Amino acid sequence: MCGIIGYVGGKKAAPILLKGLQRLEYRGYDSSGIAVLNGSIRVTKTCGKVATLCEKVSENNMPDGVIGIGHTRWATHGAPSDINSHPHLSADGRFCIVHNGIIENFAELKADLTAHGIPFKSETDSEVIAQLVQYLYDGDMISTLRNVMERLSGSYAVGVLCADSPSTLYAIRKDNPLVVGLGQNENFIASDFAAALEHTHNFVQLNDYEIAQLTARAVTFFDRNGKSVEKTPYRVDWDISLAEKGGYPHFMLKEIYEQPKAIKDTVSARIKGDNIVLDRIEFSASNVNSINRINIIGCGSAYHAGIVGKHFIEKYCRISVNCELASEYIYSNPITDNRTLTVVISQSGETADSLAALRLAKKLGSHTIAIVNVLHSAIAREADDVLYTYAGPEIAVATTKGYTTQVAALYLIGLKIAKVKHIISDARYSELLNEIARLPEKVSEILKDTDKIKQYAQSYADHKCVFFIGRGTDYAASLEGALKLKEISYIHAEAYAAGELKHGTISLIENGTVTLALVTQEDLYAKMLSNIKAVQSRGGSVLAISSQKNMQIGKESDGLLAIPDCDDDVTPVLTAVVLQLFAYYIAAKRECDIDKPRNLAKSVTVE
Ligand code: G6P
Repeated sequence: MCGIIGYVGGKKAAPILLKGLQRLEYRGYDSSGIAVLNGSIRVTKTCGKVATLCEKVSENNMPDGVIGIGHTRWATHGAPSDINSHPHLSADGRFCIVHNGIIENFAELKADLTAHGIPFKSETDSEVIAQLVQYLYDGDMISTLRNVMERLSGSYAVGVLCADSPSTLYAIRKDNPLVVGLGQNENFIASDFAAALEHTHNFVQLNDYEIAQLTARAVTFFDRNGKSVEKTPYRVDWDISLAEKGGYPHFMLKEIYEQPKAIKDTVSARIKGDNIVLDRIEFSASNVNSINRINIIGCGSAYHAGIVGKHFIEKYCRISVNCELASEYIYSNPITDNRTLTVVISQSGETADSLAALRLAKKLGSHTIAIVNVLHSAIAREADDVLYTYAGPEIAVATTKGYTTQVAALYLIGLKIAKVKHIISDARYSELLNEIARLPEKVSEILKDTDKIKQYAQSYADHKCVFFIGRGTDYAASLEGALKLKEISYIHAEAYAAGELKHGTISLIENGTVTLALVTQEDLYAKMLSNIKAVQSRGGSVLAISSQKNMQIGKESDGLLAIPDCDDDVTPVLTAVVLQLFAYYIAAKRECDIDKPRNLAKSVTVE
């Protein structure tokens, strides 16, 4: 996730900015840069590590200015490169910005500004902000920034320098975190406390559509109407090491909590009114009608996301979907031809088996779509089309936000195809679109109160074996739940289709064996209840995960974790969050190395 630091005070800005960027490195990034204002604005930026930036800054003899902005970039629009790195200067060099977030209407803005003769240098969405500030500048930065915010849609935290205001730093934000750090004759902006914590412990939160105006001695806030806003600072007594994980003890927990934003970024940019626009992927009627099979391919959690997608796509598109493990697909003489649509899912975009599968599918004449998180990774580059998940960098080995954003992306693809094929009613289409758009809010609801999940998890921490059961899409979701648990807690965990239990696995149920039963599909409640009873009658105890509308299941089980009510077809995103937390708290109780489980790698680039 990108990081921002900004400084105005009496000291040299460049070293403070560079130190701040080092503090933000934990967020993950692919390039970095700083800008210092001293008469004019000077920018130094580079692809790669902050250490490389430090070398470049000393080679470039950066000016001794006492005001500046810095950025670590995680590429979302435009490959990681020197030019695409931030800060971005306006064409006339008088304005300079750093940006976190996604400007959803950047293409329209860019076309408009280009038509007015403003040249662009980068492929980023962010550069439009610098050019827009220049274009709208009316001599007063506050009114200019208000106008800029009126034009931007999407999410942003932005730091701005203006050569005409050589002692003032500005910031705006919407749906992206930005704090203002209050020091002694110096002030800061930062995407999180970590970047400024060694200078100050006093912070103010910038709210959506607010503008911060910082000089060395004063900070003033304005609302979107230009009215000044009073804010009360608060103290952050964090130790710097905690701050590097944003206050969370592990990256995994931090990333679990980032899911509302990650899902929102992935979904909302693609929902335009009643329409789903999947970037440049063309879903014309003739393309869609020529598809007679969809192969979804991935490894690990990406494969599990594919199984959830299979249920959704088959139900609404009436196209046969095979979900394949990449390592199996490549040696299986697969049925794939030019009427097959191949969807390869990969968080890293570098998994060797998935890449090999993509290449094979292309060779066999299939059109390929990659669902990938890391921009310009191998799979993203080689696929015919790519739909990025905007999860931001994932650092914990066990994927969380990577998985849920993949599922959300598959829902969008499924719904889009169903609509183009005219086999979904308008009412059902709108209902589902609305449910997908509301997933971030429902995930937030789960994250607001996790005590019960934690209590159950801790009470099961000594178990040697945990089973997960479900039917249909709940079975698909339970596969990922079991994987999470075994990956990080080293407890043996297995997921079974609930109806399969009686064909063998039930022999393993004995006194005290724990089974997590996912029961979110209303038409399968009765069947799941029989499976739960079958486990209990052999001495097993059952923790049910169900929606609030099905509280009855709690009475029939030994415990219940409820997810917010939502459409049965999108519950896997919500159950995933509960199961991630369940695995996390068990692993924490067992004092496991949660972010780096033994023998596992984040990205497996060998076959
Ligand atoms: C590794 C990771 C898993 C991940 C799988 C696929 O095994 O530990 O968490 O699901 O690779 O990775 P990808 O980057 O292709 O999604």
